[in-house]
Amino acid sequence: MSAFEEFELDSRMLDPEHTESDSDTELSLRPKTLDEYIGQKAAKENLAVYIEAAKQRSDVLDHVLLYGPPGLGKTTLAGIIANEMNVNIRITSGPAIEKPGDLVALLTNMGENDILFIDEIHRLARTVEEVLYPAMEDYEIDIIIGKGPAARSFRMKLPKFTLIGATTRSGQLSTPLRDRFGVLLRLELYSPDELYEIVKRSAGIMDYEITESGARRIAECSRGTPRIANRLLKRVRDFAQVKGSGVIDGAIAEYALEKLDIDRLGLDATDRRMLEAMIKYYGGGPVGLETLAVTIGEEAVTIEDMYEPYLIRLGFISRTPRGRCVTHLAYEHLGIPFSPRPAESEQINMFMPQDGDD
Ligand code: ADE
Repeated sequence: MSAFEEFELDSRMLDPEHTESDSDTELSLRPKTLDEYIGQKAAKENLAVYIEAAKQRSDVLDHVLLYGPPGLGKTTLAGIIANEMNVNIRITSGPAIEKPGDLVALLTNMGENDILFIDEIHRLARTVEEVLYPAMEDYEIDIIIGKGPAARSFRMKLPKFTLIGATTRSGQLSTPLRDRFGVLLRLELYSPDELYEIVKRSAGIMDYEITESGARRIAECSRGTPRIANRLLKRVRDFAQVKGSGVIDGAIAEYALEKLDIDRLGLDATDRRMLEAMIKYYGGGPVGLETLAVTIGEEAVTIEDMYEPYLIRLGFISRTPRGRCVTHLAYEHLGIPFSPRPAESEQINMFMPQDGDD
């Protein structure tokens, strides 16, 4: 993968020979302005002020860090910021910038006030990160020419630019990097009402007929995540087209979600397997993340980034210093009788002699 790509309308979309694929629709579904962007009220309102203030001063926007679970629209928001600021955006990601030279090439090719968007910024190599510090702070980079004792370093001025970093794990960002962002925006899971609006908007753009109950069903099963809502919408559309009347209504949404093994609250087979394993093997917890990951055969980061946020939002899992616990709400949802864990003092200590032991 090249270290950067332009965030521009894909020219293939204008090609009459080109039939639109799901990934193309994904691009066209992205809102282009803050007004079109649904949800994230707090982040959006503050961002609107910072953008307006920078524009009034004819100044560059301060560096922005967007963090929160995957699929909430961090890249979309970066595109909107560029659009609202009327500047170009270059999109890349932490792992794609392998060497300091890759970042130098990106930075020296930016125009005045342009935006550099680095997704998964927590995965930047430390040597690359070090190039960013003076670039973010003073719009300068240190260039080293030659090797060994003959090496010479000189400072090079860069055009003023805005770095937008996105991460699912802000805790993994080094302090010097985090401290250089002037704007920190945390994106939250969306409410079912916000997702309902997003589903209706997307269906409108894709020219699908959708009923209120169809859009509600999809929204309720989208785990607080627009990316999932749009994906489900497309799959339900497939069922509506092949097995139904073409209209996305509550009944066809219900049918499709059952075929996709997604339950009433949007839990999939992995969510249920995880909760059931916690109940069956660990009495509902507490269980450590790594132990749980090994038990269900998933990566710990996948559990933490993809599964846990929604289960916590539903109140199905609680995080304690001793590990994760399943709550009575999850037992109810799974139809498993809830047996409260004995208080610690009442737990049988396997290493202490019990009544009846020799
Ligand atoms: N599509 C994906 N995310 C969206 C959002 N936040 N608002 C409107 N449409 C979207």
